[in-house]
Amino acid sequence: MQSNLVRFPIAEVSGNSEQTLYKASTKYDSAEQQFSQLLATEDLDNQLDAQASIVSEFEDTLRSAISAAYEKGYGDDAHLFLQRVLYGINRLKLFWYDDLRHYNNERSHYLSKVREQIEAAWQNWELAQIDVAALQELDVKDALIKRAAEDLDPPLSPESRYIRESMSVEGYCHLLAIASFDGLVEGSRLSRILGGAANEVQCTLVRVLLEEYGNGRLSRKHSTFFQAMMAEFGMNTEPEGYFDLVPWEVLACANHNFLVTERKRHFLRYSGGLTYFEVAGPAAYRNYLTAAQRLQLSEAAMGYWELHIREDERHGRWMLDDVALPLAQQYPLDAWELVLGYDQEKLMSDRAGAAVVRSIREAEHSASLIKEIEKIRN
Ligand SMILES: [Fe+2]
Ligand SMILES: [Fe+2]
Repeated sequence: MQSNLVRFPIAEVSGNSEQTLYKASTKYDSAEQQFSQLLATEDLDNQLDAQASIVSEFEDTLRSAISAAYEKGYGDDAHLFLQRVLYGINRLKLFWYDDLRHYNNERSHYLSKVREQIEAAWQNWELAQIDVAALQELDVKDALIKRAAEDLDPPLSPESRYIRESMSVEGYCHLLAIASFDGLVEGSRLSRILGGAANEVQCTLVRVLLEEYGNGRLSRKHSTFFQAMMAEFGMNTEPEGYFDLVPWEVLACANHNFLVTERKRHFLRYSGGLTYFEVAGPAAYRNYLTAAQRLQLSEAAMGYWELHIREDERHGRWMLDDVALPLAQQYPLDAWELVLGYDQEKLMSDRAGAAVVRSIREAEHSASLIKEIEKIRN
């Protein structure tokens, strides 16, 4: 699961303290290495006895991380470890055009067991933060319409203000590095829920995917626009190239998305979540675009945001009118799950957004310290 951490062109930016903290966390660091070893073991399910000591050490750490993160309620390092392990299993659902042997354990029972152990504890913890009983009482159509209207143009949060008014070029690169985790593969998980019976809902979802995928032309694919932004700064454009910088809150969004796309029982939650994602997109991208304009960056260094402000306004309308509301009509008893999906996506996105801004500020702080030291040396 480990990806290569390639340093930023602006070398100082990669030395953020979150990274340092993670490296210092040797218990989780070595358990993650053990997990990588298991993942790379040929025919893992039949080799568990031969790997008994690694398995038991890894499982001990797994149990203590679950207890720290979800029962005792402390430990960002435990959250990070758990989300990285979970992502390491989930990412096998997608194809990365790498060595075919990396997928040998795609259907391993052991990996499924680890995934379920983390997911069960983590999802209970996430759900406990939402008043599910209150959601079940709502008029779903009304609730979705009101939420979408508010999230289309929300008031600026302190984080949005920071991005717009204060973020430096180093901070912008740090933002691209973290956001590339999704930006370079965007839409991938949507592809996992498209098959099945044909109807208007399915066709709308296909239409969204087609636009994300540039209607099958690589030059128009959204991820290509993301790549172009990174190339402007000479950054590494390989998917997962900056994986080690990704905060657990961002990994949690990806892992949650894997869960709701891979389990069709959660189809309504997924559809509610994607409705929020597309509706809220333009407001977030306007923050990044405003920052890029203030920093007087090139057109290519901000093209992805401009594209999304246009396209996601349309995707948000499609998702609400042609996916969420018709599904609410079709599943009156379960319709509240659409609102649950919507609210969870918002909660997790806001939490991830705040973590990204914290990480940006730490990176900027490190960069400015290094500049100061260099000034004193010269
Ligand atoms: Fe997109
Ligand atoms: Fe979109």
